[in-house]
Amino acid sequence: MRASKDSPPGNWWTGGFAAATWGIWTSNGRLSVVDRIDSMVIVSGENVYPAEIENLVPRLAGIQDAVVVAVPHAVTGVELVLVHTLLPGAPADHDAWRATLMEHLGRFKVPRRFVALDEIGVDAFPRTPVGKIQRSEVQRMAVDPPGVGSQQHRPQMHGAGCLAPIIRRRPDRLNGPCPFVLFSTRGGLRMSFQIFDDEEVVVRTSEELKRMPVAYQKALISQITINTEGELSGGDDYTLMFIPLAPTAEERQVCAERAAEEYDHYKLGKRVLADIGIDTTPMESQSMAERRRFSDIRLHQCTTWAERGIYSYIGEESALIMIKEFAQSSYKPWAEAVRTIILDEKIHVAHGARVCRNLAATEEGREQLQAGLNRLWPVFKDLFGTPNSARSKRAVRFGLRQTTNAEALEKWRKTVTPARPLARPHRA
Ligand SMILES: [Fe+2]
Ligand SMILES: [Fe+2]
Repeated sequence: MRASKDSPPGNWWTGGFAAATWGIWTSNGRLSVVDRIDSMVIVSGENVYPAEIENLVPRLAGIQDAVVVAVPHAVTGVELVLVHTLLPGAPADHDAWRATLMEHLGRFKVPRRFVALDEIGVDAFPRTPVGKIQRSEVQRMAVDPPGVGSQQHRPQMHGAGCLAPIIRRRPDRLNGPCPFVLFSTRGGLRMSFQIFDDEEVVVRTSEELKRMPVAYQKALISQITINTEGELSGGDDYTLMFIPLAPTAEERQVCAERAAEEYDHYKLGKRVLADIGIDTTPMESQSMAERRRFSDIRLHQCTTWAERGIYSYIGEESALIMIKEFAQSSYKPWAEAVRTIILDEKIHVAHGARVCRNLAATEEGREQLQAGLNRLWPVFKDLFGTPNSARSKRAVRFGLRQTTNAEALEKWRKTVTPARPLARPHRA
């Protein structure tokens, strides 16, 4: 597109395309289109167009295809993530990529993270009919994986121990015709609280929370506290249990990074609880055995590298399922906080998958994996609580959960169970 003589120099935007588009008039009078206006994201108060970064991908050694997506971040609002596939055999050299991007872009435009496409559980980039990567679709996948469980990257395991019994769902559970009525007493006043089937609860601030029935407040506080303690224990698991088991410095580094993320997740919950007057600081100096809410000491007793893989690949999937539910919580400060965790947890699961995949290459490794799975499977199952718990049913009516304990357990079981029946390896 050629500029007219009266065209202003520098940045400009035009609505002449299907969507408003932002571009730069170049010195030779041509309009260089940068990106669609509606693709703009604001990072630390600065406008960023993902295409500006994507245009530099050909300079990043080893990358085959990439797209830049914006995912929620607790501090900056959003963070940029470069989701990529590699050329066959090429290494992922994050430091070199970062250095190259820094040469051409402001620091705030350089993606904070580089994530392989298979780490978000996807095999191939979704594309338009003309072959363009669908950025919005990748963005959706980065915070919410397609369908129930991404089975394609799961290594096969053998033996009977990996299949849990099928949990039957009770279709009558939540859809009764009557409103859910709850009574609570505050200041001598008996209040009724009704939620009809076609209604939903939305609590936007900690001030609004104070006006909610005590039962809602208790259920919410219990849920956030349990999860927050779990995040703290997760960080401790990585530092105390997995780093000493790691076979290489590289793996120790990965565990240390995961630990830092788990402690960040803990701090998010700590902040939400502090806002409603609950101080979690005492948790920070407790030993694992002293923590009572998310306590199952068997979870913190991994002794093999195979168990480290199973812990993340199978176990952290349960955390991911719950966090995705909390991201839709009726208590919006909590929903907003946990939305920022989803991508981290997906990467934790993917790293567990990598550990399992590597071990599954040998007979000895497969046996170690199966032993780890056999030990940890009942522990993971118990994380979902009592299947028929009235408390979880109430949490669904409050909008604090999307599924009951039994439904969440079934969702997890489907997600982590390989799609095809598994056969024992053939023995001569
Ligand atoms: Fe976490
Ligand atoms: Fe995690």
